[in-house]
Amino acid sequence: MNIRYELTKNPKNKPTADNPLTFGTIFTDHMFVMDYNPTDGWNDARVVPYAPLVLEPSAMVFHYGQEMFEGMKAYKAEDGRVLLFRPDKNIERANNTNERICIPTIPEEDFLQVIKAVVKTDQDWIPTKPGTSLYIRPFIIATDPFLGVRPSSTYKFVIILSPVGAYYPEGLNPVKIWIEDEYVRAVRGGLGEAKAGANYVASLKAQVKAHDAGYSQVLWLDGVERKYIEEVGAMNIFFKIAGTVVTPALNGSILPGVTRRSCIELCQSWGYPVEERKISADELFEAAQNGTLEEVWGTGTAAVISPVGHLRKDDAVVQIGDGGIGELSQKLYDTVTGIQLGKIEGPEGWVVVVE
Ligand code: COI
Repeated sequence: MNIRYELTKNPKNKPTADNPLTFGTIFTDHMFVMDYNPTDGWNDARVVPYAPLVLEPSAMVFHYGQEMFEGMKAYKAEDGRVLLFRPDKNIERANNTNERICIPTIPEEDFLQVIKAVVKTDQDWIPTKPGTSLYIRPFIIATDPFLGVRPSSTYKFVIILSPVGAYYPEGLNPVKIWIEDEYVRAVRGGLGEAKAGANYVASLKAQVKAHDAGYSQVLWLDGVERKYIEEVGAMNIFFKIAGTVVTPALNGSILPGVTRRSCIELCQSWGYPVEERKISADELFEAAQNGTLEEVWGTGTAAVISPVGHLRKDDAVVQIGDGGIGELSQKLYDTVTGIQLGKIEGPEGWVVVVE
């Protein structure tokens, strides 16, 4: 794919190392943009200065939310190489989301090429302090100026980049999670397994409720029986119960996380029994009561490995272990970030160098 470059004449100041980075507030000098129309397909691939998008107020994305996004990260290894973590998995999931919400797919090799192009352009923005990285946010929006309900025929694909620290202000300290039984995020057959903005809008009301009660995130139950654990707002969820690692099976309404899959594979390689299955909130609270719930952690690109210290459902609150970081959660965090930074050799193909 041919990419044209229009580089900024006014580079911004980069964040300085003495200012701790938060998540998703600072953006780099450039972005990638490409358009789609039925005649030319995906066309006019370009790296351009980061700037506002100009869109018709009638653009379909504003009315019916036809939008997909992805989340990936780039890291700077000690030897200066720029590394991506399992980008093929994000690209595959992006195209699954595209299929689900009627957006034209992007050939996988083109997708990887354009990610590398924009990351390479702004590679000096990749922070190097422990716990930081360059977050990559690809997204596609429907741009037809039209108010009828149908798939758009034109789209804009954009990739923006953001130097980030931890997603949660708690950092690696355990977060408090609220098990939600009033609102639901997704149902099977809906959008739950797609990375569509619509899923996140559906989560806001419960998130505000949980925040107001002093909790960081919502843990969703299934949308039908409101009994089985699904996922957290910004991550998948894992439990260690009596030595076995348990995570909800992908059932169509859960996001198939790349970090989730990586954790399953790492735990298996270390000899832990891993079960992807249905797990009810009742089973979880029983395990907490009889002392077999040893660890709880979330996984996600933004969240990495995020230990959970407390779970609340209705008026019952359980503390996990001593409320601190569990041994396996810590080992997973160290291993995943070690592989991402090129310090630990991961399984074949997990790390891709941006050249
Ligand atoms: C990610 O982990 O990359 C995500 O897209 C989750 C988002 C809610 C921050």
